[in-house]
Amino acid sequence: MFLPWANVLLRHASLRPAERVLDVACGTGIVSREAAPLVGIGGQVVALDINPSMLAVARALNAPSGAEVHWREGNAMALPFAEKAFDVVLCQHGLPFFPDRGLAVREMRRVLVPGGRAVVIVLQTLAQHPVFQMLMESVARHLSVPLSAVMTPFALSNADELSALFASAGFKIVDVHKETAMVRFLESQNFVALAAASSAAAIPAFAQLQIPERAALLEAVRTDVEPTVRAYREDDVITFPMHAHVAVASC
Ligand SMILES: C[S@@+](CC[C@H](N)C(=O)[O-])C[C@H]1O[C@@H](n2cnc3c(N)ncnc32)[C@H](O)[C@@H]1O
Repeated sequence: MFLPWANVLLRHASLRPAERVLDVACGTGIVSREAAPLVGIGGQVVALDINPSMLAVARALNAPSGAEVHWREGNAMALPFAEKAFDVVLCQHGLPFFPDRGLAVREMRRVLVPGGRAVVIVLQTLAQHPVFQMLMESVARHLSVPLSAVMTPFALSNADELSALFASAGFKIVDVHKETAMVRFLESQNFVALAAASSAAAIPAFAQLQIPERAALLEAVRTDVEPTVRAYREDDVITFPMHAHVAVASC
């Protein structure tokens, strides 16, 4: 699902051979794997995430061509790198998850060289994503938690707020672009359960459930969401548009 976004992000990043790139909140590494051939063997790609399980998956996947990717455990709000260590900082669907987004953006600024750029992609509003809206409302209702506890990926949807984060951190030029990508999910039967489980994973009320209760909750969500999902399913593939803002900020 995240490959189309990596393509969008990297189109805005316009990476050049030999550039040094930091991928903040790399997850399982799709952005870094796509960036490595673009900067080539003379370049550098460092991929950082706070979650060692994400990095374990990233390390287990086939290495890309081009620059070697260095997988690094760390916190976006306290980057373990010297000042001016990178030409480009990338961050795909990570910023909404950081408890102090301003601090994370100041950290991006600190590790960039003068003239360096940050390219950050975040989702637009939940209301523009009917499948996820239905799914997250259902998860919140069945867990008896507010929608805000579940909808973190959509929590930084305001373009002005996004732009202000970069301006406040001292970036000189900040442009925010609107982008739409068609995302595809193979094995459509698993989509609702996986998406619901990942939406709920960080919620204590979900983490504390026993396995049978979890399964019952996911089945209840599937029943709620299935009619909405059906409109986007063809053969065994779900395809729907998603909408994001891409902030391109220069030091
Ligand atoms: C929605 S995933 C996006 C992953 C990846 N960028 C991609 O596009 O596939 C969000 C990622 O943010 C990471 N994350 C959350 N808080 C973080 C923090 N404070 N520092 C670094 N990574 C963090 C999570 O572990 C998760 O891998």
